[in-house]
Amino acid sequence: MTDVLTLDPRRPDPAGIARAAAILRAGGLVVFPTETVYGLGAHALDPVAIERVFSAKGRPAEDPLIVHVHDVNQIGPLTVDVPPAVAALAARFWPGPLTLVLHRSSAVPTLVTAGLGTVAIRVPAHPIAHALIKAAAVPIAAPSANLFSRPSPTRAEHVLQDLDGRVDLIIDGGPTEVGVESTVLDLTEAVPTILRPGAVTLEMIRGVLPDARMRHAVERHPVEQGAAGHGAAPMKSPGLLAKHYSPRAPLTLYEGSNSGMTARISADAAEALARGQRVGLLVATEDRIALASSAALRIERVGSESEPSTVAANLYNALRVLDADGADLILARSFQDASGIGVAIGDRLRRAAGRIIRVD
Ligand code: TXA
Ligand code: MG
Repeated sequence: MTDVLTLDPRRPDPAGIARAAAILRAGGLVVFPTETVYGLGAHALDPVAIERVFSAKGRPAEDPLIVHVHDVNQIGPLTVDVPPAVAALAARFWPGPLTLVLHRSSAVPTLVTAGLGTVAIRVPAHPIAHALIKAAAVPIAAPSANLFSRPSPTRAEHVLQDLDGRVDLIIDGGPTEVGVESTVLDLTEAVPTILRPGAVTLEMIRGVLPDARMRHAVERHPVEQGAAGHGAAPMKSPGLLAKHYSPRAPLTLYEGSNSGMTARISADAAEALARGQRVGLLVATEDRIALASSAALRIERVGSESEPSTVAANLYNALRVLDADGADLILARSFQDASGIGVAIGDRLRRAAGRIIRVD
């Protein structure tokens, strides 16, 4: 059993923070809330602690960790050749949901960076994360606090589902605000490139670095045009997908017009229910789903299409709720907003999806 410590997210009790910081300094594992998702923290300069992070998560060693510091001035010893853009980006976006990939110094264990010559660093804004990292007085490596391939945790209960008994302490600071992981911006290439979209958007970064670009998206799924019958195509092996955020049940993502998506989701759900399957739907508040209520049907409404920040905040919880409900399959609508945090929502839904169906 793992200890759970509940702290006020606005004004965390210093005694609780001190206890958690002592565990981190001693090489233990502490889960803490950030403004994006919960992180599984460990002393970034302690290779034994870092090894425990990888084994607690079941994470492959070739996936590097983000190092969290409490102030931009802490990045000096961790990096070399820091470009001038860092000061401007830090002034504008730190503390906050932006991670910068920089050239690493030899102080950073190779385990943290998976052998890369670069290190990802961020300064989280959440008062608990900030106070904890400051009190620990060492850089804290923290991946999202989920088991490998599960959705990132946005509530302490999600962490317990995945990591109970695998970490020393979980700090419960309530639901996280943003709900999707930080924007990862690579500053080690000629052109600043977003590797993972998040709440700090390309438009926002271009306000500081006009030439910044989004990494060329990798099309992981052949998009099916109006394919009929949900059970038709086989699932791609999740093991072949490099990095994904997946619920346990296979997820089908629908893209297209609102009316097209909701009609097709209703029809495919009805068909699956008739086959005796349990069905989970991930839809918007305003979507009209033409289905009789059924014990085998669970509908999660993640928010209005016009409020993408609410959708982002509820997304991973909805995936976990549908899984916990025992869904055999999850049918999800996509959200059209291709600006702002809508880009991150689309990215995460596509990564979670086993197949994508376009229904224009
Ligand atoms: O919001 C967040 O970033 C959360 C909270 C806890 O801070 N953390 C998080 O960590 O999402 P994780 O480990 O789940 O995701 C880190 C991402 C991975 O996609 C990893 O490949 C990438 O950052 N990354 C880490 N170091 C990198 C590096 N040196 N170069 C390129 N990508 C890197
Ligand atoms: Mg993660």
